[in-house]
Amino acid sequence: MIVETPRGRVGYDEDGTGRPLLLLHGFPHDRTLWTAQLGGPPVNTRVIALDLPGFGESDSAEVPSLDHWADWVAGAMDALQLPRAIVGGLSMGGYLAFALWRRHRARVEGLVLADTRAGADTLEGQEKRVAMQATALAQGAGAIADAMLPGMVGKTTRAEQPQAVEFLDAMMRRARVAAIQKALDALRTRPDSTPILATIDVPTLVICGAEDVLTPVKESEAMQAAIPDAQLAVIPGAGHASCVERPAAFNAVLSGFVRARFP
Ligand code: MLT
Repeated sequence: MIVETPRGRVGYDEDGTGRPLLLLHGFPHDRTLWTAQLGGPPVNTRVIALDLPGFGESDSAEVPSLDHWADWVAGAMDALQLPRAIVGGLSMGGYLAFALWRRHRARVEGLVLADTRAGADTLEGQEKRVAMQATALAQGAGAIADAMLPGMVGKTTRAEQPQAVEFLDAMMRRARVAAIQKALDALRTRPDSTPILATIDVPTLVICGAEDVLTPVKESEAMQAAIPDAQLAVIPGAGHASCVERPAAFNAVLSGFVRARFP
């Protein structure tokens, strides 16, 4: 579906009724990352998955920064009549959830931080983003999918679930080069969110695939330790795209969190 906002079109899907759970995908994904969560929302939950700026059916945001994207998401929430929501993000979506907390915390009634990290890019990481922009420009989204795919899933998924690997590969190949370029700028320039972890005073669930090599479990353990009263769930047999690789386990953890913390 499409919703028009003052900042342009936003692609989204939703399922279920009740307390809103807004899901933000990673890089270079689109809202179909959350297909399995849309298929089985936690009880009493309205799950909404957005295409982030320039991905899927969404228009680009004018400024490639995560703070600007947070304002863009708040605008999408206005258009979808969501005064508040539990905000869940995977990887880049998690970085964006932190930006929403910084800029629009009244809109955030809970956080789900999946396969993400609080820290900013290292200098080396920033240089890799710039190199990836050059690759995307020269060779297209397929080259980015090739570069990202090995880290996107865990070794168990690689061995046992070719369909999940193909699903993610096809999603990344669909990304527009312009969206990849802008997202890489937003990722490269994002601030360190570590200092704000202690300010998070809404129910928070941290999820991580046990085999995640891009944002390893130790990053999630550090976030859980720093966020007051946060809960951590490690999903066995999953890597970075845990919501795709182990949807039943991911959804069970999500449902348990929503039921326990938002009765
Ligand atoms: C993602 O899945 O969103 C990316 O791995 C994030 C990143 O490159 O930092």
